[in-house]
Amino acid sequence: MLTRKLFRSTIFRLTLLYAVFFCVSIIGILTFVYFATVREMESQIKHRINIQINQAQSAFNSKGLDELKKQISEFLDEEDEGLFIYILTDDKGKTVIGNMENFPEEVKYSENWLMFDIDAKNDEDATHILAKDANLYGGYRLLIGYSLKGPDKTKSVMFDVVSASILLAFFITALGGAMFSGVIRRRLEEINHICTQVIGGNLDVKVPRTGGGDEFDNLAGNINSMLARIAELVGGLKQTSDNIAHDLRTPLNRHRISLENIINHPTSPQKINETLKEGIEEIDNIVETLNSILRISQAQSGVASGHFVEFDLSTVAIDVIEFYEDFFEQKGITITTSIETELMINGDKPLITQAIANLIDNAIKYTPSGGEVSISIIKQDKSIECIIADNGAGIPEDFYDKVKERFFRMEESRTSAGTGLGLSLVDAVATLHKGTLIFSNNNPGLKAILILAADYVINL
Ligand SMILES: Nc1ncnc2c1ncn2[C@@H]1O[C@H](COP(=O)(O)OP(=O)(O)OP(=O)(O)O)[C@@H](O)[C@H]1O
Ligand SMILES: [Mg+2]
Repeated sequence: MLTRKLFRSTIFRLTLLYAVFFCVSIIGILTFVYFATVREMESQIKHRINIQINQAQSAFNSKGLDELKKQISEFLDEEDEGLFIYILTDDKGKTVIGNMENFPEEVKYSENWLMFDIDAKNDEDATHILAKDANLYGGYRLLIGYSLKGPDKTKSVMFDVVSASILLAFFITALGGAMFSGVIRRRLEEINHICTQVIGGNLDVKVPRTGGGDEFDNLAGNINSMLARIAELVGGLKQTSDNIAHDLRTPLNRHRISLENIINHPTSPQKINETLKEGIEEIDNIVETLNSILRISQAQSGVASGHFVEFDLSTVAIDVIEFYEDFFEQKGITITTSIETELMINGDKPLITQAIANLIDNAIKYTPSGGEVSISIIKQDKSIECIIADNGAGIPEDFYDKVKERFFRMEESRTSAGTGLGLSLVDAVATLHKGTLIFSNNNPGLKAILILAADYVINL
């Protein structure tokens, strides 16, 4: 069970793979060292044999058999460790001189070289001999060999060392890998634990950060920001749905009561007509509120940025002001405008139009008769500012953020028609166009500035 779990772990598998790669490379290096050493030892032996064969041959060629025998005797005298093998046979194969009884059965090792065993009771006891033979004039045959007892011993020691090194390397890698995977697993488990809590519905959790600034710390930071954003969105969504339910229940109830009255208290067709007209108006208001909510959500989600087009903001603003001219007149409000021409902008035309209309609508709604409203649209260094200022009651500074919330209306405004969605939309439109909505005191009154920022402004 535990092993299956272990093998399913990517970190464990990666560690194992790493250990295998590491060991394969160690095996490669040590094998190379092993064969290089063996070859070097062999070539030194061959070199010593070659020197003696050459000496013997030149002794025979220059001064004949006696000199050769003398030379071999000298070799035998010098040879006190019992490592060299010498044998000279005549044309009948009889031994003339040497420290070996018979010429060995030849076993070809490689070109010019022979390899055979002596003292061979069994394979383990046998001594390997590397030798070279030479055919001399008159049918004589000379063989000089060297015992590989020493090199064989060195080889076997080296083999043991190499095997032990590989085993040790594997254990060290596996141990290091286990420690390393343990650290990673612990960090991942922390993150998994947090995810499980989030799945369980708890958004008030945070992935702990070590403060080391490594990749896991960055991931933890991003997950925490993501959770904070999700919590904010979920909170906003809950707030909005509560508000929608609250704000739509009253008009819908009112509408229901009117319809019920018609059924329960039969009345004149004219009265029925009036009630139905009121009902339609009520429904239109509800639909308008729902449309505003949809527009705000659209602006906030950023999907509207897919509908961006280039248009002249000056013309749009002038059209909106023209539309409201009658309202200004009816309420006896003086209006002054200062609109720069050809303010080209890349943005969502219907949303920007609606945002400017909302600000103007507020200025009319919250400025008493005889008041003054000024509208100016100017280009700044890297943005366009739409400034709508009135001399009405204004908004206390503490409420500048609050009035941007959906459905929020100041207490004193509740007598006038409205849903409290106007400024929410303006704020969302500003954010969509990388701008902002700011308020200041117009002494008296409110100055609202909708800033549409750089990326979206062309021909500045
Ligand atoms: N120019 C202003 N002067 C004074 N108070 C204002 C002004 N503009 C907005 N407010 C206050 O801010 C609140 C929110 O404004 P917002 O435009 O969001 O909603 P609304 O005008 O009440 O309703 P809606 O615009 O949805 O019809 C208003 O209810 C009002 O109290
Ligand atoms: Mg409004």
